[in-house]
Amino acid sequence: MELPTAPAGKGCVPWQGLLLAVLLSTFWNPPTTAQLTIESMPTNVAEGKDVIFLVRNLPGNLAAYGWYKGDKVDHHQQIASYKIGPVEITPGPVYSGRETIYSNGSLLFRNVTQEDTGYYTLQVINTSYQGEVGTGQLRVYQPVAQPSIQASNTTVTEHQDPVVLTCLTNDTGISIQWFFNNQSLQLTERMKLSQDNSTLTIDPIRREDAGDYQCEVSNLVSASKSDLLRLDVKYDPTLGSSGLSAGAIGGIVIGVLAGVALIAALVYFLYIRKTGGYDGLSSCSAFSKANRHAWEREGDFNTVSGPASVPPPS
Ligand SMILES: *[C@@H]1O[C@H](CO)[C@@H](O)[C@H](O)[C@H]1NC(C)=O
Ligand SMILES: *[C@@H]1O[C@H](CO)[C@@H](O)[C@H](O)[C@H]1NC(C)=O
Ligand SMILES: *[C@@H]1O[C@H](CO)[C@@H](O)[C@H](O)[C@H]1NC(C)=O
Ligand SMILES: *[C@@H]1O[C@H](CO)[C@@H](O)[C@H](O)[C@H]1NC(C)=O
Ligand SMILES: *[C@@H]1O[C@H](CO)[C@@H](O)[C@H](O)[C@H]1NC(C)=O
Ligand SMILES: *[C@@H]1O[C@H](CO)[C@@H](O)[C@H](O)[C@H]1NC(C)=O
Ligand SMILES: *[C@@H]1O[C@H](CO)[C@@H](O)[C@H](O)[C@H]1NC(C)=O
Repeated sequence: MELPTAPAGKGCVPWQGLLLAVLLSTFWNPPTTAQLTIESMPTNVAEGKDVIFLVRNLPGNLAAYGWYKGDKVDHHQQIASYKIGPVEITPGPVYSGRETIYSNGSLLFRNVTQEDTGYYTLQVINTSYQGEVGTGQLRVYQPVAQPSIQASNTTVTEHQDPVVLTCLTNDTGISIQWFFNNQSLQLTERMKLSQDNSTLTIDPIRREDAGDYQCEVSNLVSASKSDLLRLDVKYDPTLGSSGLSAGAIGGIVIGVLAGVALIAALVYFLYIRKTGGYDGLSSCSAFSKANRHAWEREGDFNTVSGPASVPPPS
């Protein structure tokens, strides 16, 4: 391939050379031609707070700065001008008393209001009266007000009505989060949030849901939590929180024990049949015998006699 430094034939501009020139201009972007940029710090500001417009890529040999409200240089919208050496600051028609221009061109804006939202333009002029312009944007938001929290009922009975908690706010453009006992709420399969998170439905309610609920609203610049709302859940202590009664659990246990006892009795009965009676047994036989009769009695009331008819052990 032909080297770009080698001259091309007369009257013929090599396209490779043009391409290289474009490539070089993008790679070797000289810092002096870097665009003047204005950045608002922070980008989103709460009303009443201060903001600074930082100026980057300021050119050299500067003679003066001018700050303007809006996205262009308009002398009717001048905030202030700053002349360098000797320093001379002149307020413009829209100066509000809250702005300060620094020697590096940055503009400090104190106690901003929502009306300050918009574009701001800086014009810089060098000693040969050549100008450059940069524009930045300021977004001022109202901090959110404290929300309130409401419940369909703050004293509820376990497994009965659903509980609906509502986060009340008049602010818009917000997001909502829920807290339970001062921790971020962990949603269970019994809980459902509305699309905007403003309502929390718990259905069915369980004793472990009792506690302090709180909602928090936030926007880009602020956050605020509601007061705590205490939810009391009344429950039957004989019931498990899953809804299975202690009686039912007891029944299952007794049933299993009875089954085991029945099998044991059967094994014992077969053993007695095989060994031919109680004769060879120890002193515990009386108890065992009575027990056997009890089991037999349970099995058949009509045909089996009570323990009273059994002769005492020898
Ligand atoms: C310009 O000066 C101000 C005040 O001294 C300072 O806060 C700011 O960081 C400076 N701006 C830049 C871009 O360094
Ligand atoms: C900020 O501005 C508001 C009106 O916009 C004013 O009531 C308040 O006193 C100002 N605060 C400060 C600290 O200057
Ligand atoms: C002023 O700015 C112009 C355009 O950016 C530049 O050509 C000129 O050299 C600058 N003058 C000085 C004294 O830096
Ligand atoms: C709240 O729930 C309790 C228990 O379920 C019930 O007795 C009471 O009537 C309910 N109150 C309201 C206002 O619905
Ligand atoms: C919302 O606005 C209404 C009417 O101005 C007011 O009564 C209510 O207290 C406000 N609610 C909240 C949560 O700020
Ligand atoms: C709703 O809450 C969840 C987690 O609690 C959060 O990730 C999500 O951003 C919230 N959505 C809105 C619209 O507030
Ligand atoms: C949550 O925090 C508040 C205040 O910080 C406190 O009064 C309350 O007892 C806490 N609740 C729990 C369940 O930790």
